[in-house]
Amino acid sequence: MSQWESLRERVLACKGCELAATRTNVVFGVGNPQAKVLLIGEGPGEQEDLRGEPFVGRAGQLLDKMLLAAGFSRESNVYIANMVKCRPPGNRDPNPQEVAACIGYLREQTKLIAPRYIVCLGRVAAQAIIDPGFKVTQQHGQFIQKAGIWLMGTYHPAALLRNPNNKPDGFDDFCKLRDRLAAEAD
Ligand code: URA
Repeated sequence: MSQWESLRERVLACKGCELAATRTNVVFGVGNPQAKVLLIGEGPGEQEDLRGEPFVGRAGQLLDKMLLAAGFSRESNVYIANMVKCRPPGNRDPNPQEVAACIGYLREQTKLIAPRYIVCLGRVAAQAIIDPGFKVTQQHGQFIQKAGIWLMGTYHPAALLRNPNNKPDGFDDFCKLRDRLAAEAD
């Protein structure tokens, strides 16, 4: 069995925090594990819990639309995962214990994918991965390099559904990413 498959099996069987008791499905992640771009959300919502796939609800449909318009898709050139792999009841933020219990899996995924870029979708992921004081409205679209990986935070698609005025800025962040990848390929 590949390292990726054995990781998936461990994650699907995980009972490392109390979210295991209320989940329907573990949401391991989706996309191309060889992609240069890893997108990281917060945690599964209701639809994701039911389907076992990240970003399949309304926010996910918006994400897919923006990705496609910028030349990305979960079927081809990105991988999508979450900070926590099981749904926090009522869509609350995952608590620090839940994040601590789960983050090792995301680290293992990141090691195996070895992405060139990590895009944090929303405050929870950006504060955990980029900077504990990260402010999405002020710092979205900025690229900083850590341990050889470029990190960028942008609006969570659910936040864009609540605040459509920010959609152009959010989309622009994905266009910047596209342009950087294109420049590197030259
Ligand atoms: N929101 C997230 O952060 N992740 C999902 O998978 C779905 C909604």
